[in-house]
Amino acid sequence: MSGSEAVTVLGISGSLRQGSYNAAALREAVRLAPQGMKIQIGDISEVPLYNEDVYAKGFPPAVERLREQVRAADALLIVTPEYNYSIPGVLKNVIDWISRPPDQPFAAKPAAVMGASAGRFGTARAQYHLRQSMVYLDLRFLNRPEVMIGNAGEHFDAAGNLIDEQTRKQIRRLLEALYEQTVKAKG
Ligand SMILES: Cc1cc2nc3c(=O)[nH]c(=O)nc-3n(C[C@H](O)[C@H](O)[C@H](O)COP(=O)(O)O)c2cc1C
Repeated sequence: MSGSEAVTVLGISGSLRQGSYNAAALREAVRLAPQGMKIQIGDISEVPLYNEDVYAKGFPPAVERLREQVRAADALLIVTPEYNYSIPGVLKNVIDWISRPPDQPFAAKPAAVMGASAGRFGTARAQYHLRQSMVYLDLRFLNRPEVMIGNAGEHFDAAGNLIDEQTRKQIRRLLEALYEQTVKAKG
């Protein structure tokens, strides 16, 4: 389903790497967004390591910006690599910052996850770890479709373009499901 209702999505890639497959998959998602959906890409590169002493003095500007973007978005799209069977520390660090009181911007937000990894299982384990953390924060992940891009190097060209039509179809289906879920959630 795609349609006339406007849905805004904040996309976050869990990799800071210049040639990141996950950042490339997120850029592809921006291009594949169904009618009515607009995906904005959040910048996590300036977020410092979480420190309760820093938090006590106020959110750093990069965190405040992301918190505001999460709050303003109708839904989230998280695109994560798998590091040692989990999500990268940089992504967990961002989640930890955004989750801190007074308000909790993730609560009740529809969300989708996808990921690309060098391994055969295409971030499956990282995605389930992410889902586990986000249960506590009450983020509402879609259960399906699952988009797990294994052997990532075979799916992207040197310029970071997705060259696999099957994966493009999967991403499109995921975004359509997210659109539908978000329209429902908005009531
Ligand atoms: C610290 C570290 C741990 C990794 N652990 C895994 C892993 O558990 N499973 C996997 O499939 N790939 C693993 N990889 C390889 C990543 O899938 C690969 O580096 C991938 O390109 C990272 O995503 P990116 O291209 O978006 O940066 C690991 C890479 C790093 C740097």
